[in-house]
Amino acid sequence: MTQSSVAALFDWGVHDLAERSESSRADVSLLMAHAMGRSRGWLVAQPDALLSEEQIAAFVELCNRRKRGEPIAYILGSAGFYGREFLVNDRVLVPRPETEHLVEDALGFIRGPVRVLDVGTGCGAIACTIAAETDATVDADDVSPAAIEIATENARRLGVGDRCSFYRGDLVEPVRGNRYDVVIANLPYVPTGDLPERPEPASFEPREALDGGPDGLGPYRRLLAELPALLGDRALTLLEAAPPTISQLAELVRRALRDWVVTVCNDYAGLARYVRASASPGAAGGPAAGIGPGAVATGRSR
Ligand SMILES: C[S@@+](CC[C@H](N)C(=O)[O-])C[C@H]1O[C@@H](n2cnc3c(N)ncnc32)[C@H](O)[C@@H]1O
Repeated sequence: MTQSSVAALFDWGVHDLAERSESSRADVSLLMAHAMGRSRGWLVAQPDALLSEEQIAAFVELCNRRKRGEPIAYILGSAGFYGREFLVNDRVLVPRPETEHLVEDALGFIRGPVRVLDVGTGCGAIACTIAAETDATVDADDVSPAAIEIATENARRLGVGDRCSFYRGDLVEPVRGNRYDVVIANLPYVPTGDLPERPEPASFEPREALDGGPDGLGPYRRLLAELPALLGDRALTLLEAAPPTISQLAELVRRALRDWVVTVCNDYAGLARYVRASASPGAAGGPAAGIGPGAVATGRSR
């Protein structure tokens, strides 16, 4: 290909990716916009525009990476989460839409300048979103130095660096002795035997972000041994896991937090996705109830 129009190359790309991607049209549009340094809207408006040889070569290379299974977010270097863009690379998990449910739940609960902990923050999607949407102060940690680096950069870019503190360390070790109003964790929860293999997109993600041990609940067992000491009197905790293990996780939470109200909540697909535990019945209703001195403008930006 020495010269080609946007429309012709678009069709070629869709055909090229069709076998490997269920979202080939959307992928091609994102990849071509990225290769050309243009918006997707510009591509739609300029179907007859010609690509240079360099742009064609760059686009073909991006398509090849996608064909090998690499997640589109790694190729583009960013992922959307709750209406914001987060820098990502192959050293952090790509934040998932399911996790937005936990954020939404927390936002309904938070009132005023409360303290929030995000355990296993990855690219900082949960921590930064909560800081951006509320007046909360957020601590977040991760065992991965690369995650702490990228989460810190995301907080800076999103203008919430002053209310987010990121620590490198194992589970609660960096924040032991603190008390929080909200503790959220999306820890690795894939059973080791079910870890994805190439060319599945998730196989490109760091193993330490996925591997939950033999039954997928290893990291949560360790967290639950320390969780009660971290939670304030009227706190909320939200723990994401896989649908097949969620009832077992709920049982572990009930044992760790006796007398708390423990429920299992669903994701967009109607699948059981996270365990919610609130300290008092007054806080169990989710969005209507909350803690803190007064209402906070949450300013949802989706
Ligand atoms: C499933 S990813 C979730 C990332 C992010 N919270 C999100 O929702 O997109 C799990 C994260 O937990 C981190 N992690 C794994 N084991 C950990 C541990 N023992 N202590 C702290 N973080 C851990 C991983 O490095 C990874 O970033």
